[in-house]
Amino acid sequence: MSVRSLLASVAAIGLLALSVPVYAETDALTATGKWSVPERKQARTPPMGWNSWNAFRTEVDEAKVLGAARVLVDSGLSKLGYTYVNIDDGWWLKRRQSDGRLEIRTAIFPSAKVKGKNSSFRPYTDKLHGMGLKAGIYTDIGRNACSQAYDLHSPNLPEGTTAEREVGLYGHVDQDIGLYFKEWGFDYIKVDACGINVYAPGSPLVRDHAYTPVPPLIDQAAISRTDIPAVRSMYDKVASALATANPDGDYVLSICNWGTADVRTWGKQTGHMWRTSGDITPTWTRMLHNFDSASTRALYAKPGAWNDPDILFIGHGDFDADHLTEARSHFALWAIINAPLLISYDLRQAPQSLMDIWGNAGIVAVNQDRGGHQGVIAYASDDVQIIVKTLSTGRKAVALFNRGLAKTDITLTAAHLKFSGTAPVQLKNLWDQSATPFTGETTFSVEPRQVLIFEASGERLLTDGVYLSEIPGDVNVAADGVVSPEPDPVVHRMRNSWGQTRGSGERPAYTGWGGAQADATPYDQALRIGGQGFDTGIGIQSDSRLEVRNTAGYTRFETLVGVDDSTRNTKDRVRFYVYGDGQLLTRSEPVAFGDAPRPLKADITGRQIVEVVARTENRSSDLPLVVIWAEAALRK
Ligand code: GLA
Repeated sequence: MSVRSLLASVAAIGLLALSVPVYAETDALTATGKWSVPERKQARTPPMGWNSWNAFRTEVDEAKVLGAARVLVDSGLSKLGYTYVNIDDGWWLKRRQSDGRLEIRTAIFPSAKVKGKNSSFRPYTDKLHGMGLKAGIYTDIGRNACSQAYDLHSPNLPEGTTAEREVGLYGHVDQDIGLYFKEWGFDYIKVDACGINVYAPGSPLVRDHAYTPVPPLIDQAAISRTDIPAVRSMYDKVASALATANPDGDYVLSICNWGTADVRTWGKQTGHMWRTSGDITPTWTRMLHNFDSASTRALYAKPGAWNDPDILFIGHGDFDADHLTEARSHFALWAIINAPLLISYDLRQAPQSLMDIWGNAGIVAVNQDRGGHQGVIAYASDDVQIIVKTLSTGRKAVALFNRGLAKTDITLTAAHLKFSGTAPVQLKNLWDQSATPFTGETTFSVEPRQVLIFEASGERLLTDGVYLSEIPGDVNVAADGVVSPEPDPVVHRMRNSWGQTRGSGERPAYTGWGGAQADATPYDQALRIGGQGFDTGIGIQSDSRLEVRNTAGYTRFETLVGVDDSTRNTKDRVRFYVYGDGQLLTRSEPVAFGDAPRPLKADITGRQIVEVVARTENRSSDLPLVVIWAEAALRK
């Protein structure tokens, strides 16, 4: 043991012996010494592949899906990682009443018509597996699916009596999951939520189509009218059925409840990805909405658990082959925030210009970097954003995004990249491979709706370590201090594309406002303690706990702590604690609004998990108390 770590241990024992109060074990702030996100075998990087929905809605069929699969293989896209081939809504015929078994609409999936009385997807999944691909299926957490509410004209809706048309998981979780995974051999499941959202008692839909009424557990407009524990526990049951049906861990659970029910906080515990918003449409401003719902949630995504702003709409509407700027931007944005990359286009007819977008190996590599660090917003405004992602090579990917309608200059500084301003920086444009060397800063002229995306190398500002805000994939927000979930006012509110301007407009929706953020406060302010600003740090509320993986064997944790100047709770005092593998290493004195930043340092030699806790002392106010771990870093 080094002298430094010996001293640290002595200090820690002293502290423990002195005065640390004992908290209940169930206290979310108790250091556990563990990484509490399940170590999943699949989706260590964001899932990639193809999904039928945006291309075909319910008019999906076997020829269309296998046609897409064939192109994935023949074009080389599958080698780049596009391996999941996912059937969305529209595949089912009915739930057989004698034994509850689901029947496939064999008129559109002819290979499912096998000998005997059962239909089976096994020949289909065998075929995909034989092509080196994986197979995904779709269901709903309730009794009925989304198409049964929204695609009423469809020729492929489930048929029969009320009960026969109940094709969702409700009441059949173990049976259906066993069928899909053990018998049919699927590898991936998307679980939608219309069944607990739109089949309200007394609604015209339920009355006109003789569905079983289900009091909604989700209210998309009001988080307070959503039964968060009930929704979570329904998805948890699916997760445990999946674990039972797939003891080898070879499955992906995609949670599709559109960012509701506070899924931001529990999605990572339950599934491999969770939608952060309602459905994407092929319109520029809706794409902005979906992007914004995930782009400020970097700290909630990590290997095995991803924010999902929805499947790609490249090839359609504002992102078609006549709008390649928009199509490329959509792709680059999804890539840099570690969104799953699911193509949804009739690949049998795809022009080369679109194939070149999905097939951009450099941009795919940004998305699939094994570090799993979602890009972080380094410059924020409604017109321009700069998003920076740390790659496992120590390099960065950076996207310069002109959201607006006019051409604009965007200046990228070395500081945005957390690189030294005096050493040369190299930028490689990932669309045309051109190089731009610069020192200090450089300015690009960016077209309306254009994203320039680069790989950047340079001299790191922090030469002997990493800032926590650079490595969101290694930071788990175990408790974020949010007491009452609020709608997010900074997510773009597009005029919706399925209605007119009747009514009062699009209002902010819940997506996790007030949660922890990298390089910003939970309420999207710049970091500031006692009048002093910081470019780097984690903004969070008290009471909160973060788990940090020290996989690279760093020996020091250093930070400056304090109450953020933007806090609405200016009364209460907060104490900051640092733990290593569950043992207290150091803590601050109680600090209050206006106090200068306090340095905290801990020896973390040999520690696997560093936990940092902000705890309010004798809380007297209900207002959010914003705190900062400024310049928090793991160092050699
Ligand atoms: C919901 C989902 C979509 C799609 C459709 C299918 O709207 O959010 O992604 O699966 O249902 O009906």
